[in-house]
Formats: sequence, structure tokens, C-alpha cells
Amino acid sequence: MKPTVAPFPAARLRRTRATTALRNLVRQNTLTVDDLIWPVFLRDGENVMEPISSMPGVMRQSIDNVVQSAKHAHLLGIPVICLFPYTDPSLKTADCAEAWNPDNLTNRAIRAIKDAVPDIAVMTDVALDPYNINGHDGFVENGKIVNDRTIEALVKMTLAQARSGADIIGPSDMMDGRIGAMRSALESEQFQDVAILSYAAKYASGYYGPFRDAVGASGALTGDKKTYQMDPGNSDEALRLVERDLNEGADMVMIKPGIAYLDICHRIKQSFGAPTFAYQVSGEYAMIQAAAQNGWIDGEAVMMESLLAFKRAGCDGILSYFAPAVATALNG
Ligand code: PBG
Repeated sequence: MKPTVAPFPAARLRRTRATTALRNLVRQNTLTVDDLIWPVFLRDGENVMEPISSMPGVMRQSIDNVVQSAKHAHLLGIPVICLFPYTDPSLKTADCAEAWNPDNLTNRAIRAIKDAVPDIAVMTDVALDPYNINGHDGFVENGKIVNDRTIEALVKMTLAQARSGADIIGPSDMMDGRIGAMRSALESEQFQDVAILSYAAKYASGYYGPFRDAVGASGALTGDKKTYQMDPGNSDEALRLVERDLNEGADMVMIKPGIAYLDICHRIKQSFGAPTFAYQVSGEYAMIQAAAQNGWIDGEAVMMESLLAFKRAGCDGILSYFAPAVATALNG
């Protein structure tokens, strides 16, 4: 649809910008608390609140504290909390067995949160990197990240999370065929209502640096993730990945990182109309916080503007470390 504009002065486009009331009236896109998924970092122990230096304001939290955070998030109206574990280096192995241990940090946290705050949805991460001695999302054999054997592990991980009460499974690994395998495993155990939010278009990105510090994967990672995560030069491939994952049984799809990939968000929403999410990743968060701390930008304004951009691009929601701050601001 082509916008029509009458000649000046019949059209003065400043008229609808002239007052707060008119601006509010004509605004097309808004950010609400319902749009937020809050990613949090877990750490073993009790009463742990450990700052992450590359992510000012973000903590690694022990389960007791994350339960309190989930309560707080629920009171703020945030619908989903997403768990990422910092795994003790002593638990990292080449076979990644800790990933599907029913009593690993994530699975214990899911149960504790669902027990205390049943109405907040819990999303998980499915990928081997927190548990892998070499920091990769899949098994490594002869220097290669192997696809099919990794899927078997991801399925075990998925089932362990579903049995612990996870509401949304978030495969972030980028292996081929994992969504179908996970979906049929969930069906076979009567987990029909467990949703899958696929990290469908996940790029091999420099913006993940602070996250890898947060989960303790930076030191472990050998090489890069370019044989499984997408090339930042590609756009059509994102559509093929999304279509494939939706066909295999994903309920929702994600684009990651966020701000640098708004064109991808827009194309995906336009092409498929499926529930579409973006991940405003750790590096994006760190950049905004760093500039704000230096007084170079108005941190709160940029936080809100950056998230609104995802709504304008067509996203239904955003994973953001800013979630509680945004919810607090929106709730006045
Ligand atoms: C790995 C994973 C990553 C993130 C989420 N899951 C990093 C990576 O792929 O190396 C990044 C999130 C962020 O940067 O905030 N499975």
C-alpha cells in the first residue's frame, strides 16, 4: 500500500505530532509488558547474586534468588523467564552428560520456580555449550561439530526439561533436524502442550561475547561457530530455516541477535505470520549500558526505543536483559 500525501499546506504532517494526545492517538506500535521474555543466569549455591562485569546490572543467581526474581517478574507482569546455567568447569565433559541430568542446575531451577510461581512460563535453553568441554553447541568429533549424534543429546535434554515442568523449550544450537526430533519425543511422552520457541535464524555473531562470559563458556570455546550458526551476509537462508522449523513443529521462532537483524525480523513476520521473537543479546545490552554509564546516551530512552524497534519490525516479543527495568518503566 502506497501512503498518500496531499500537497502542502493541506498536508502538514506535523499536525499529528503537535501534542502528546495526538501522538498517543496515532501511534502504530507500542511496547507492553506482555512482550517481554527475561533471560536470567543461574549459578549453584545459596544466596548467590554474582555480578557479571561485562553485563552491568545482570547477576548470576542461585536458585533461591532466582525464585524471588521470578516472583518479582510475575508481579511486574512479565510472562516468561528464560534460564541459562553457569556450569561449574568440573561438570563440563566431552560427552556433556550434565546436560540431561534431571538434577542439573536448570532442571532444579525449573521445578523450584514452577513450584513457587506456577503462572510464570519457564523457558529453557537447549544446546550443549554450557556443558561441553570445548564450548560448542554440539558434540565435536575430529574437529567437526557433528549433527545427528548431537540431536540425540538435545532430545534427552529436552525431555529432562519437560519432565521438570518447562513450558517453552528453546533450542539455540542450530543443528539440522532437531525440532522434528524434539517434537516427536515430546509427543511420545504426552507433553503435547510444551511449546518450542526455535532459535531458527541465529547468526554467528560477535554480539554474544558477554553471554559467553556469563555462562563461563568463553574460556572453553575453541574456534568459532560458523559451521552451524548463520553467516551475517545471508537473508534468504533465514526464511528457509524458519519455514523448515515451523514445518517440523516449532510453535514460535526467533531471530538473533536483534537490532542488527531487524530486516530479518521484518521478512520473517511478513512471510510466515508465525509468532516471531527477537533476542536483544548480551552485546547489545552491554553496549547500551556502557554508553549510558558514561553519560553518552540516555540509557532509559535508548532501552525503550531499542525494544520498540522490534515491535515495529513485526516481532511479537523480545528476549531482553532489560525486561524488569522495562516492565518497571511501563508500569509507571
Ligand atoms: C549458545 C547461546 C548463546 C546465546 C544464547 N545461547 C551464545 C552462543 O551461541 O555462543 C547468546 C545470548 C546472548 O548473547 O545474550 N547456545
